[in-house]
Amino acid sequence: MTTTADYTEKIPNNVSLHEDRRLQRALESWQPNFLTWWQTMGPTLPTQDVYLRTAVNVGREGWAQFGHVPMPDYRWGIFLAERDPGRKVGFGEHKGEPVWDKVPGEYRSELQRLIVIQGDTEPASVEQQRNLGATAPSLYDLRNLFQVNVEEGRHLWAMVYLLHAYFGREGREEAEELLHRNSGSEDSPRILGAFNEETPDWLSFYMFTYFTDRDGKYQLGTLKESAFDPLSRTCEFMLKEEAHHMMVGTTGIDRIVQRTVEVMREHDTDDVAGLGAIPLTVLQKYLNFHYSVSLDLFGGETSTNVANYYTAGLKGRWLEDRRKDDHLLASDSMMVDSLSEDGMIGQTEVSALVGLNTDLRREYISDCQGGVKRWNRILEEAGVKSRFKLPHIAFNRKVGAFAGIEASPDGEQLSAQEWQRRSSAWLPTDTDKTYVRSLMRPVHERGKIAAWIAPPRNGINGQPFDYDYVHLT
Ligand SMILES: [Fe+2]
Ligand SMILES: [Fe+2]
Repeated sequence: MTTTADYTEKIPNNVSLHEDRRLQRALESWQPNFLTWWQTMGPTLPTQDVYLRTAVNVGREGWAQFGHVPMPDYRWGIFLAERDPGRKVGFGEHKGEPVWDKVPGEYRSELQRLIVIQGDTEPASVEQQRNLGATAPSLYDLRNLFQVNVEEGRHLWAMVYLLHAYFGREGREEAEELLHRNSGSEDSPRILGAFNEETPDWLSFYMFTYFTDRDGKYQLGTLKESAFDPLSRTCEFMLKEEAHHMMVGTTGIDRIVQRTVEVMREHDTDDVAGLGAIPLTVLQKYLNFHYSVSLDLFGGETSTNVANYYTAGLKGRWLEDRRKDDHLLASDSMMVDSLSEDGMIGQTEVSALVGLNTDLRREYISDCQGGVKRWNRILEEAGVKSRFKLPHIAFNRKVGAFAGIEASPDGEQLSAQEWQRRSSAWLPTDTDKTYVRSLMRPVHERGKIAAWIAPPRNGINGQPFDYDYVHLT
C-alpha cells in the first residue's frame, strides 16, 4: 500500500486499484455515471477553471496541491489514510482484537447501511448548493463553494469505493442509487431531512457549512473509530478535507456579522435592512433554523440500533480513545433529554449504550457554542449589546423526544396556536428570506466584494483576496 496517489490511473487512488481488475472495471463503469450526475446536478454556473486543491498524498505534510482546474476535469480519487498495522478495536465486545480488513458476515448489512447513509449526504449537499455560483459575493467565495462541492463529490467516491470493494452486487446497486436519489426530489429524496432543504442563498450556505457540515464531522468521527479498518481510514482522510468546509462556514458567518456591525455603527442603527446588510435578528433566525435541523440529524435520544453498532465495534464515540471508561458501557447509565409522562421537557436515565446518539449530539452542541462565542466577540468588540445564542434543544425539532411539542428558543413549552403566533420571531419568514435573496447579486469581478459581507482576512493557499480564483466563461 502506497500513500502517494497514483495519478496515472483513470481513477487516482492510493489503494493499488490496478491490482484488482474487477474492482477497477466496476469503478470505471461507475465513473461516467458520476460525471453525468456532476454535469446535470452539480454547479450550474459555467466556468473555465477554478483554483482548487486536489489531494495528492495522505501523509501529514503536503497532502494537497493547488492549481487552476476546469471543474469537470477535477481528479476525483480514492484516498485512504495510512494504515496502522498494529491498530486494535478500541471499544465494544471485540475491544483489543485486531481491526478487520474485510466485512464480517454478521455485520454486513449494518455496515452497508451506515456507509450508504453517510454516502447519501455527500452528493446531496452538492445538489443543494448547485445554483449558488450565480450569486457569489466574490471570486474568493465562489472558489470556496466549488472547493466544497468537488470535495463532497470526492466523499461520494470514498463511500462508493467501499461499497464496490466490500459489498458485492448489493454494494454496486447502492452506489447507483446514490446518484439516483436527489435532494428535494418528490419521488426519491435524499435519506436525511436536512439534506432535502434548499440552500437558496449564501447566508444559508455559510450556516449549512457551519452547522450541517459539522454534523458530518461528528458522524465521520464516530466511523473513524470503526473496527472495519477501510472505513476508519477512509473517514480519517475525509475529516482532513472537511476541516476546510467548516472554515468556510465559520469565517463566512464571521464576515457577515462583521459587515453588519460596521453598517450599524456607520448609520447608528440596528435596522440595517435597506442599508444592504443583514440584520442581527435575521442572522439569529437563520442560525436557529440551521442549528435545529442539524440537531435532528443525530437521530432520537435513545437508539438500540446505535447501541448494537457500538457493541459490535462498527461505530464508536467522538474521540473514543480519550474517554476514561471501560469502552464497553455495558453497566453505565446516563441522562438523556425526554418528555415526561405529562408531556413536559425533562430528562430521564437510560443505559449509556442506548444513549449514544445523545452523547454525540452533546459533543456537537458544545462545538457549536464555539461559533456563537466567536460571533459574539465580534459584537462585543464593536460595542454592540445584543448577543447570539443557540436555541434550546427542544426548539423546532422534527426528530426525537421533542418532535411532537413546540418550544421557544428559551425552552418555554408552547401550545400549537402560540407557536403559530410567535414562530415568525424565531425562524426566517418569507420577508426575511426575500430580503436576504434581494442582496444576492453576483460580484464576479476580481478583488471586489458584495456589500453585505466583509472580505476575508486571508486568501487561499497564501494567495491574496484579489487573486483570480475563478475564470468564468
Ligand atoms: Fe463530505
Ligand atoms: Fe463537507
